[in-house]
Amino acid sequence: MLSLTLRDGARLGALELWHAEEFADHLDRAREHIRPWVGAAFVTDDVDGARTTLRRYGEWQAADGARLYGIWHDGVLVGGVMYVSFSAALGSCEIGCWLEPSAEGQGLITSACGALLDWAFVSRGLHRAEWHCRADNERSSAVAERLGMKLEGVRREAWPYEGRHYDKQLWAVLASERNTGGR
Ligand SMILES: CC(C)(COP(=O)(O)OP(=O)(O)OC[C@H]1O[C@@H](n2cnc3c(N)ncnc32)[C@H](O)[C@@H]1OP(=O)(O)O)[C@@H](O)C(=O)NCCC(=O)NCCS
Repeated sequence: MLSLTLRDGARLGALELWHAEEFADHLDRAREHIRPWVGAAFVTDDVDGARTTLRRYGEWQAADGARLYGIWHDGVLVGGVMYVSFSAALGSCEIGCWLEPSAEGQGLITSACGALLDWAFVSRGLHRAEWHCRADNERSSAVAERLGMKLEGVRREAWPYEGRHYDKQLWAVLASERNTGGR
């Protein structure tokens, strides 16, 4: 299988339809941890739901759009990263991520997202990458900052969750900023 070593024991690889059972098992460990912070459609409850997500990303990837990748640590699927959207025509993409609780605090997401930025900017020539998160998601905005993104604005009360509307931050980095290290 194609994969990229993030560091000893941790690798990034394509997360595909044939991983449905493994993905569902992982979501059992991650579900309540990620639910407030990710799109509702991503938080499925069983293998059929996991399969639906993987099939949807597979179809998007076939059209050169969104893509999904898993992070395996010591052989266990512990989270992942994705291009939430990807448009070569517009020269822009949005990156997203999630982890189960045991995998937090090790730099896995910063490293994996760095690989996605490099592929988008260097291999595909994209111009801009975005990051959207709930404004009170401090761990997520910390990743955006570590990736060299700038906070471009806040969409007020644009994130509905359990009867409340939360502010949503928009972060972004340009290819020129990442390549030169200019932050
Ligand atoms: C957002 C989320 C993925 C961030 O996970 P994370 O573990 O904080 O991020 P990273 O994997 O990049 O790890 C960074 C942490 O590892 C530490 N770290 C250790 N080695 C590191 C390294 N080589 N490089 C970078 N950070 C490293 C950092 O200091 C940081 O620790 P801290 O939180 O104590 O400051 C996670 O909190 C999560 O899944 N949340 C729920 C879902 C979610 O919010 N998804 C995003 C939606 S927008």
